Amino acid sequence: MNIKKFSTAVSMAEAAGEHIIELVKKKPESLLCFAGGETPLLTLNYLVEAALKGKVDFGKCSFVGLDEWVGLGRETKGSCRQTLFDYFFDRVPELTDSQICFFDGLANDLDAECKRVDEFIAKHGVIDFMLLGIGMNGHLGFNEPGVPTDKYCHVVDLDSVTKKVSVKYFDEEVNVSKGISLGIKHIMEATEVMLMAYGEKKADIVKRTIDTEPTSDVPSTLAKNSKNAVMFIDEAAGSQLN
Ligand code: F6R
Repeated sequence: MNIKKFSTAVSMAEAAGEHIIELVKKKPESLLCFAGGETPLLTLNYLVEAALKGKVDFGKCSFVGLDEWVGLGRETKGSCRQTLFDYFFDRVPELTDSQICFFDGLANDLDAECKRVDEFIAKHGVIDFMLLGIGMNGHLGFNEPGVPTDKYCHVVDLDSVTKKVSVKYFDEEVNVSKGISLGIKHIMEATEVMLMAYGEKKADIVKRTIDTEPTSDVPSTLAKNSKNAVMFIDEAAGSQLN
């Protein structure tokens, strides 16, 4: 896996944003997938500003959500849907609902949700680009340690680390125990995958990701087996690397 280190999270987000803009220029009908959480926010903001200035046109792109907390919808601040819509989809004027496929964490039939999202991706052939944050336990999306590698969309029992970390997203007390997520197979088949991490707190998992052979125990290591993966990190996240 290629590693690109940047002095700050801002310069990293700009480079990631420019990379995505170039990709969309080359293939305007790209299928893109962005993680929720904190990591992609600066990049999403960069992309929104670029779209508003007319530097990039997302009008022909499609988007698929990476994951969602089961039981949460847009009205819960911190849900993946709320994050992606408030920070990106609703701020890019050219986007319409038909371009976006996002998990409904409130759906009664979660297997049907998995099928719906799998079918949306299959209809497009393959995901062209994924921007993934790295969880403190190495999860990608909600592909938690021990994840089977042969799955597309699936429902997941959240790892204890994920449950503990989740409180940082929510203003209110929410009790999350399950997630719904694209699978490792989607990550393996995507044309390009960008793992991203910034800040000192990610230094340990970044080092483990790089030093460990691909294993489900640390899902971020599995990205090394994907077709074309790059890791973007800032100075602090890379501070334990030699
Ligand atoms: C969120 C997601 C998660 C996060 C990861 C890092 O949609 O898929 O895998 O990307 O937990 O979270 P942050 O970016 O908040 O450090």
